[in-house]
Amino acid sequence: MTDIIAISDASIRRASDILAAGGLVAFPTETVYGLGANACDGDAVAGIFQAKDRPNFNPLISHIANAETAFQLGVETDFATVLANCFWPGPMTLVLNRTNDCPVAMLTTAGLDKIALRVPAHEQAQKLLAICDMPIAAPSANPSGRISPSTAYHVYAGLAGKIDLILDGGPCENGLESTIIDCSGEAPVLLRPGGISRGAIETVLHSAGLHCRLGDAAALSDRGQPVAPGQLQSHYAPDASVRLNATSQQGDEELIGFGPIPGAGQLSLSLSQSGNIKQAAANLFSMLHQANAVTTGTNRRIAIAPIPKDGIGEAINDRLQRAAAPRNAPSGATK
Ligand code: TXA
Ligand code: MG
Repeated sequence: MTDIIAISDASIRRASDILAAGGLVAFPTETVYGLGANACDGDAVAGIFQAKDRPNFNPLISHIANAETAFQLGVETDFATVLANCFWPGPMTLVLNRTNDCPVAMLTTAGLDKIALRVPAHEQAQKLLAICDMPIAAPSANPSGRISPSTAYHVYAGLAGKIDLILDGGPCENGLESTIIDCSGEAPVLLRPGGISRGAIETVLHSAGLHCRLGDAAALSDRGQPVAPGQLQSHYAPDASVRLNATSQQGDEELIGFGPIPGAGQLSLSLSQSGNIKQAAANLFSMLHQANAVTTGTNRRIAIAPIPKDGIGEAINDRLQRAAAPRNAPSGATK
């Protein structure tokens, strides 16, 4: 059975006991809800892969309370120091080489010698990490390949019966996953656009005297080099099909609007009527869930208005393209 309870000091203590005993707990962060297990306990982490039905070549992010702890698990580099100082705690994940004595289970990093690390800013997530005193492996708390959860109810709808506890902390503020940057090499590489924009990262690196452009994961993967193995082409997929850059509704589509293009269909949703990109990011997954829930029949269709590509618009468009991608994309298509 899966309990869903309001997040509080008492429920955080209960969550910590469950995690210490090898159980699975979903918890809120400022990006999306995570499905947590003790990152150092391979059996517990295996439970995450099972509950999500996630391919085990796809590594998990380890969450820790501060940068100091992060750099005990991953080898600190100049790029990592600068970015950690500026963006942690917050919606940024750094990929680093595992330290020699890194206690995190190899399953957590899917057998890779690199580890993904994040220090979330969410106050309650911070409390959980402080009280647990262990790194918590946590992917987004959704069945693999489906829409990410920005509320506790989304988690319940996708994973009830498969996990022990859901801590309900209300809707996530950002609503979009963290930006992932590989800082282990000679130049940093953007593996997944997210809550912090490419421009903001480059500005911070430049002002610290680290003059470089952020490498692109797609370019690396074209050269046959491994990138974020979880960046599958079809991801964030609702049951309904998704049509992008829609300027008007076709047939019985549920059209999600943005700015001057109004929503249409049963819900008439708009990611942001005022064209505010941050608001659009916060609403994205929630509105995909809602639109998916009201479409019925065999030909379920969602359409989405064009979203500008600059700033965090890059991350929104990344998620939308994956939501709209053909569903049976081969697992090797790791872009
Ligand atoms: O905002 C977030 O990042 C949320 C919250 C819960 O922290 N987590 C999240 O996890 O989005 P997940 O598992 O849905 O996405 C993590 C991504 C995957 O694409 C995975 O392949 C990549 O991070 N990743 C994890 N470890 C990696 C590593 N060692 N090297 C390269 N990519 C890695
Ligand atoms: Mg995910």
